[in-house]
Amino acid sequence: MSSSQASALPIGVFDSGVGGLTVLNAIREHLPSENLIYLGDTARVPYGTKSAVSVTRYAEQAAKALIERKIKLLVIACNTASAVAVEPLQKLYPQLKVMGVVGPGADASCEATRNNKIGVIATEGTVSNEAYQNAILQRLPDASVVAQPCSLFVALAEEGWHEGDLVKQIVAKCLSPLLSDSQANIDTLVLGCTHFPALKNVIAEVVGPDVALVDSAETTAMAVKRSLAEAELLNDVSQQSGVVEFLVTDSPSRFARVAVNFFNEPIVPAEIQQIDIQHFRVPT
Ligand code: DGL
Repeated sequence: MSSSQASALPIGVFDSGVGGLTVLNAIREHLPSENLIYLGDTARVPYGTKSAVSVTRYAEQAAKALIERKIKLLVIACNTASAVAVEPLQKLYPQLKVMGVVGPGADASCEATRNNKIGVIATEGTVSNEAYQNAILQRLPDASVVAQPCSLFVALAEEGWHEGDLVKQIVAKCLSPLLSDSQANIDTLVLGCTHFPALKNVIAEVVGPDVALVDSAETTAMAVKRSLAEAELLNDVSQQSGVVEFLVTDSPSRFARVAVNFFNEPIVPAEIQQIDIQHFRVPT
């Protein structure tokens, strides 16, 4: 394959469902010429309440589906899957660069904090796997990190409940253990779940102006750009907008309807392909 053919290959982006579209937005913004294939495992969402073993298996099957379609880079947009599957997938496919959202999110939080006290909100799975906690402490050993599961925000975001008094009350209640802990005294809060940027305004109101919010979608897109540039795989066809292909494992119509809450561009159900990945055996 010539280098221009390799550069024209799509970036594979994988999430448990629609939330990863926030990462896709950021990649589209920073890398508009790139071709992209997005896979939402909508038949098995949510991942946030599943075990690490199941989520790793789902991620391996999703990666296989994308790799079969020929991609030049794999982005795990789902925080819960990034927390457990980046290393196993990188081992399984050493020839392909695999990137998650946890590392870039940890980088951004370490840059943002002034007092080295960082909060993380995420799904139950991401919090219990301690992926953000470990990634932050690796970068900033003096940091103190407190993490709070907020799985309920996933449903709010998908239903389009992004603002209003009721949403604010729910957000305040979920964040209260974190905010009332005087020892925690966080000045930075990582939105460690694909869905949470949709609630960013309400979360900002609840935590107040002294707490910086970190959204890993943005930093992941910049990390993708750096990685492609280093590998000389940027699709440098200036002015030309890349093609985006959508794959889902359940009904395209629900995906298209809920996607409106996450993606900046309209998605037509007829352009979404439904595939079955559950029978995939993963190479050992
Ligand atoms: N995409 C998941 C994450 O970022 C949230 C939704 C789910 O639980 O699958 O952790």
